[in-house]
Amino acid sequence: RFLDGRPQDLTGRRVVVSAGGTREFLDPVRFLGNRSSGRQGLALAQAAAARGAEVTLVAANVSLPAPAGVERIDVVTTAELRDAVVKAAATADAVVMAAAPADFRPANYADAKIKKVPGGDAPTIELVENPDILAELVRSRPSGSGEPFIAGFAAETGDENATVVEHARAKLARKGCDLLVVNDVSAGAVFGADDNEVILLTADGEARPLARAAKSEVANAIWDTIVQRLG
Ligand code: CTP
Ligand code: CA
Repeated sequence: RFLDGRPQDLTGRRVVVSAGGTREFLDPVRFLGNRSSGRQGLALAQAAAARGAEVTLVAANVSLPAPAGVERIDVVTTAELRDAVVKAAATADAVVMAAAPADFRPANYADAKIKKVPGGDAPTIELVENPDILAELVRSRPSGSGEPFIAGFAAETGDENATVVEHARAKLARKGCDLLVVNDVSAGAVFGADDNEVILLTADGEARPLARAAKSEVANAIWDTIVQRLG
């Protein structure tokens, strides 16, 4: 069966997609955040729903509307994102971590707004590391089951030590996930853009570059790969 011209090849599958960027608060009005718009994650949720999946979207500070027919859970911090994703992943066939979780959070939260002392010293913000959700999902998978299928995203730049793909391969190995969607951001980032150019890196070592395309097309190519591996 086809709907919107798409195969219904995710019918009966439960998938979890995270989207957006987390925020870590310093005080009631200030946070550390990042520029993730959530667009690629929304496109993934939309594409999966159009292909028949039951979709849970865990949205971190996404200001855009969620696609119709998708269960949306809103979160703010990396800790909240972790709790929501881990819970939803327990019954999922596939999890795609398209969100950009803050790697660190302030060690202390000030209950009252931090005040500037005119002429005084600038404050120093001490940070502590956040949990790595993707790595935790992989670790907590029943050994040998390979379920759920776990995909991550990585924005990388080449440098004097390694190319984008080399950095990405190392990250894929470190995280232990099944698929890494790699963004080459050497030529400037694509935050908020409508299209995307990625390389699909799978755990079996294959690196498949996709032509620059709308985020909806990139989303469908990602699901094509996942559907294939779900068998
Ligand atoms: N990720 C995660 N939990 C974190 C950080 C990242 O689940 N605390 C996930 C992201 O959603 C993404 C993947 O891990 O799918 C790779 O994120 P990235 O920031 O590239 O990886 P890091 O291990 O944080 O490495 P880096 O030092 O390059 O930021
Ligand atoms: Ca990171």
